[in-house]
Amino acid sequence: MPEDTLTITDNRTGISCTVPVKNGAIRAMDLRQLKTSPDDFGMVTYDPAFMNTASCESRITFIDGDKGILQYRGYPIDQLAENCTYLEVAYLVLHGELPTESQLHGWTQEVAGQTAVPEGIERILQGFRQDAHPMSVLASLVAALSTFYPEAKNVHDSAVRRVQILRLLGQLPTLAAYTYRHSLGLPLVPPDASLTYPENFLSMLWKKSEPYFQANPVLARALDVLFILHADHEQNCSTNAMRSIGSSLADPYMTMAGAIAALSGPLHGGANEEVLKMLDVIGSTDHIPAYVQKVKSGECKLMGFGHRVYKNYDPRARIIKRIAEQVFEVTGRNPKLDIALALEKIALEDEYFVKRKLYPNVDFYSGIIYQAMGFQPDIFTVLFAIGRNAGWLAQWQELLTDPAQKIARPRQVFLGHARRDFVPIGQRGA
Ligand code: CMC
Repeated sequence: MPEDTLTITDNRTGISCTVPVKNGAIRAMDLRQLKTSPDDFGMVTYDPAFMNTASCESRITFIDGDKGILQYRGYPIDQLAENCTYLEVAYLVLHGELPTESQLHGWTQEVAGQTAVPEGIERILQGFRQDAHPMSVLASLVAALSTFYPEAKNVHDSAVRRVQILRLLGQLPTLAAYTYRHSLGLPLVPPDASLTYPENFLSMLWKKSEPYFQANPVLARALDVLFILHADHEQNCSTNAMRSIGSSLADPYMTMAGAIAALSGPLHGGANEEVLKMLDVIGSTDHIPAYVQKVKSGECKLMGFGHRVYKNYDPRARIIKRIAEQVFEVTGRNPKLDIALALEKIALEDEYFVKRKLYPNVDFYSGIIYQAMGFQPDIFTVLFAIGRNAGWLAQWQELLTDPAQKIARPRQVFLGHARRDFVPIGQRGA
């Protein structure tokens, strides 16, 4: 018997079959040969929430959740956060290799050349209520880009794809900044292609009447590192949405609008906003024990804790804690940090969290930094989306160039009624 195989005995029939094991996985389709009769559909796997199902082969991001390891294209996240710009990491994630100096220069110029959004976007933006949630506005504006770039639907044309990738990398910060200014009722500030990626974003957010906006270099760098930390995270909920929608060959704008929608949920990217709300509710360190008790009795969750994949300290949370110190030297300490640190300490010692391997995740500290920088909580997830943009695009491209991929279409285990005849309305019981 070849070593890389799995033999399964179906105890319903006593029949055994042997299926290949490749890269530690078996193909779910190989299980279909397990049948109880010739007209049986065959065995399927039941895996709500994809707890143990690989939907693709990928070469982009590696996570070892037990060891707390995160690598993009093989490079450890801490080395990238220490040494790279976000656009350099975006290039790496999308192309597979770090750029040379001239490649990085060309790439940066190309992205900077795509930061202006179509004129009609401003009119669409004006149609939204000022208090609309920024993630809803962002998803809508990204979907609206599809109406300006109809050629984007040629998703199998690599040259067309490349233009849309540059547009999305260039325009997402502009859309995000416009969304933010709109929510504050402020006039929009157009992009400035002469600035770096984070400086341009900060200028579009915070520029007033001054002719030239000078971003604080510590804050600009902190934001760039936060974008790097969020750049990709393999098959998370929003990336799975990106791949699933993309598999129907929808254009990248419609596809990314779906990914943004998935990111907005409080169990995913929306958690960074929820953490701040939670720290507000807790109010002071004296109230932490009572709050932890509520979490343990199942009344609420400790937002910013726990992760499907990490069963150890999230390596991004460790880096974020370091950035927080640098940001607070400029902005002053966010008093919420003391509550967060005390909460983390108690949670990491408490049996409930230890037993379930619940550690702070990326969202636990990011909101505290964003708030210290002057952002309102409802914009936090938009900042996450700007970083994740590169990963969504890389995963979308990988999907489209993978011959093994087809339209995503899971099976179900049907437990509903067997066939029955229609009952006229007058004959239906209560
Ligand atoms: N607070 C309290 N209990 C928790 C938490 C939490 N934050 N997270 C998980 N648990 C418990 C859960 O109740 C379950 O307990 P039991 O075994 O007694 O039923 C156990 O831990 C295992 O949790 P799970 O729900 O099976 O884990 P999951 O992999 O399905 O969910 C998660 C992962 C991130 C959705 C979840 O941990 C959670 O809701 N965390 C809070 C929201 C959050 O911070 N999300 C951001 C995730 S990181 C960035 C991102 O993806 O955007």
